[in-house]
Amino acid sequence: MQLKVNGRTVTVPADWRDESLLNVLREPLGLVGTKFGCGAGLCGACTVLLDGEAVRSCVLPVTNVGNAAVTTIEGLSSSGTLHPVQQAWLDVAVPQCGYCQAGQIMSTVALLRRMPRPDDTQIDSALAGNLCRCGTQQRIRQAVKRTAG
Ligand code: FES
Repeated sequence: MQLKVNGRTVTVPADWRDESLLNVLREPLGLVGTKFGCGAGLCGACTVLLDGEAVRSCVLPVTNVGNAAVTTIEGLSSSGTLHPVQQAWLDVAVPQCGYCQAGQIMSTVALLRRMPRPDDTQIDSALAGNLCRCGTQQRIRQAVKRTAG
């Protein structure tokens, strides 16, 4: 079984085929930027993109991914250049503990893809499923708007 992850075709070892996409990404593929939070689809820490749409990888069986292109936080930057959303996160110094931030960034990338200039309400709505216990939501709004221009 193969997956398309961050522009590469990778093989999922046979003994990982009953696992979630999150577990496959983190263990055999070593892409640990995607975090395990609740494991139940509730916190958003495990958010990745599937053909550009934000999904919870902890509740997605890897066998359901099929030919969809998976993008993780590691796949956002290219040739040493940060993705504009990552750069905005740095410029605004969004993270506190940082645990949820990969998921926040991936959800933001998906948001800006379908809605280039969201207002606060649209940002809050799009990121409502990405929990942050440090209270960085205000800085997240600033970073999203900075990216949107
Ligand atoms: Fe997947 Fe919480 S770890 S939603």
